[in-house]
Amino acid sequence: MSLRSKERRGNVAWRSPSNIALIKYWGKYGDQLPQNPSISLTLKNSFTQTRVSYYPKDVQGELSFSFQFQKKSHPGFYDRIRKYLHRVKSYFPFLEDYHLDIESENSFPHSAGIASSASAFSALVLALETIENLVHDGGHEMDLTRVSEIARLGSGSACRSLFPIAALWGKTPESETSSDLHAIPMESQLHDIFKSFHDSILIVSQASKKVSSTAGHSLMRNHPFSKVRYEEARRNLKEMLEALRLGDVERVGFITEMEAMQLHALMLCSNPNFILLQPNTLKIIERLKDFRLTTGIPVYFTLDAGPNVHILYPDEYRTHVQNLIVDQLLGYCDNAQWIQDSIGEGPMKLE
Ligand code: DP6
Repeated sequence: MSLRSKERRGNVAWRSPSNIALIKYWGKYGDQLPQNPSISLTLKNSFTQTRVSYYPKDVQGELSFSFQFQKKSHPGFYDRIRKYLHRVKSYFPFLEDYHLDIESENSFPHSAGIASSASAFSALVLALETIENLVHDGGHEMDLTRVSEIARLGSGSACRSLFPIAALWGKTPESETSSDLHAIPMESQLHDIFKSFHDSILIVSQASKKVSSTAGHSLMRNHPFSKVRYEEARRNLKEMLEALRLGDVERVGFITEMEAMQLHALMLCSNPNFILLQPNTLKIIERLKDFRLTTGIPVYFTLDAGPNVHILYPDEYRTHVQNLIVDQLLGYCDNAQWIQDSIGEGPMKLE
């Protein structure tokens, strides 16, 4: 059957969220496999939307695509996607026969410590998988395990963005179905209280990071504390799973903060060392701890690989915490910017 018929063109679009790790992935081996298991909460308002138009190309074989980010060309992203598509082409035989026009946009600033590669790669892979199904399989049900595995090859944290509420990535004796190859859904393992959680992301700086996550991961290879860190992460994961199941907000918060601090402590003593924290990051953390101490409200922080602060709290305390943010913390943010995010239901196919 000829692939070059008119009906064999179309476009698909997906919205996929970012995620925030409670137990951090920092350090990898082999083909983008994690040195320790990680757990994340799936976000709602921080997302990437990616539309991929496809049509048969004249010459079979050579990869052919265009890419626009926020309606503009972006040579850096184009190159990363080109390498990625080469890497995953065996999963998507349709790439042999089709040209792609990829358009992507984020609901938040990229490279500012919000895991933009997580939402970007998960949205892209969902679109590619949808096209592959339409073109070659006639539309069978999406296999999220496979999608997660392919997304992992773009960016490790992307494999966790595919599932509602929460996801676990990395082999652990705590879960039989866990794997280093892909993430698994965790919604059923979570107490309901966490499903009501907010994540207010305080944008301390939206400048691009000086050291990428990928470069940071590679510094774990010869890091003096890597072995201790991987053991610690495993211990924290075990405790975190129990606390998430029991609805023990205080314990989840305590471990989450410890994980954030360990992540940045590892950066401070990498060789070469680097600092992604900024003075205002620390001021926000101090203020938040004071607030928790004086009010008793269970509100906790975490950090990704960047200076921005994620503030996590149950819905019940929304007004108190958001008043704190507006009255006392926005002065530490870049142009008083913050993202009011919360826990979300995972990716969504768009019309
Ligand atoms: C600190 O997934 O961005 O956010 O796999 O090299 O693309 P690559 O790295 P990435 O690393 C995320 C690191 C982190 C922690 C986490 O999300 O678990």
